[in-house]
Amino acid sequence: MRIAVLAETDTTETRVAATPETVKKFLSLGADIAIQTGAGIKSGYSDAAYHAQGAQIVDSAATALAHADVALSVRRPNASSLIGVKENLAVISIMDPFGNENAIGELAKKNIIAFAMEFMPRITRAQTMDILSSQANLAGYRAVIEAAAEYGRSFPMMMTAAGTVPAAKVFIMGVGVAGLQAIATARRLGAIVTATDVRPATKEQVESLGAKFIAVENDEFKQAETSGGYAKEMSLDYQKAQTELVASHISKQDIVITTALIPGRPAPKLVTEEMVLSMRNGSVIVDLAAERGGNCALTQADKIIIVHDVKIIGANNLTCRMASTASTLYAKNLFAFVETMISKESKTFSIDWDDELVKATALTRDGVVLDHRFVT
Ligand code: NAI
Repeated sequence: MRIAVLAETDTTETRVAATPETVKKFLSLGADIAIQTGAGIKSGYSDAAYHAQGAQIVDSAATALAHADVALSVRRPNASSLIGVKENLAVISIMDPFGNENAIGELAKKNIIAFAMEFMPRITRAQTMDILSSQANLAGYRAVIEAAAEYGRSFPMMMTAAGTVPAAKVFIMGVGVAGLQAIATARRLGAIVTATDVRPATKEQVESLGAKFIAVENDEFKQAETSGGYAKEMSLDYQKAQTELVASHISKQDIVITTALIPGRPAPKLVTEEMVLSMRNGSVIVDLAAERGGNCALTQADKIIIVHDVKIIGANNLTCRMASTASTLYAKNLFAFVETMISKESKTFSIDWDDELVKATALTRDGVVLDHRFVT
């Protein structure tokens, strides 16, 4: 059984899909590991560090993939880069299938079995494999650090001989994994924190972290959670009422961090231009939903713009700014998943197609695209 670890082709991607720690674990299960040279360099893992654990370092993706049963990467590799691979090579990565149906189809045509880690079910058994949580948690933390760095004032209240500095007011919109960590981080920095979400369950979570919950709490709000624990798209009436409430609140905030997402949909627009205009000079908005269109109407992905003297950070993939930690957790998530497909007795890789984790994450098999959830 051979596992290939690919270097990322997207130059903005700094994470890596295996660490020396997971390499060691794979080897102990009887796998051979081929690491494409330089794969870990941006995460602080040298070729030598992998080699010291027993991995083979190879000079190209093609060499790593030769005879491989499994290929690990952070982002979905292009089908065209998967040259000379075995039939039924399992490629395990963030597949980002929404809007990329053709690229998934190309993987299917090559008889590749593509596993989308972002489709891992959020059940107890798969908690260690949950890349959305492991990465969103770090993004939430980093969003606050970025906001603090861009904000020209203090987060904590300071009482000094030269005068008293007020605490920053931080408003978190969307209280999933990222939002919860953002609340906790902003609180640790001494800010006065408020938060909003459309899922009623979040109210208690917000309050347990010492922040105040802000939302229109009507009947629709009380039913605004799917059985899977995700947000539903809200009615226009609800959105209007919530917008009014949020508008008056935002005008008094210094920092707004938005993390609101609805699976498979564009990010809901929560912060209008008028709201931005109402904020005082020097305020900062960090939009973690930038990649999915942004929660703020003015956000530009991957850019910091200044509009009406408010800085708006279109924060794409903040985890890449803490690549070492992000890779450590991502690689452990991958290991936990791949381990379920390695037979301890025969030390071979085999896929149990009846396993609910496999059913949920596999996008392609036997030349066809299996899953239509991502066809928008
Ligand atoms: P997400 O990334 O899909 O969305 C972020 C947040 O935005 C969510 O809390 C959502 O309710 C909120 N949101 C959506 N539309 C909004 C709007 N119009 N206004 C304000 N907020 C809005 O969420 P994430 O972080 O993936 O978490 C989703 C759920 O999964 C949560 O219930 C979380 O607790 C649960 N979860 C369960 C796990 C498990 O059981 N293993 C692990 C991780 C998360």
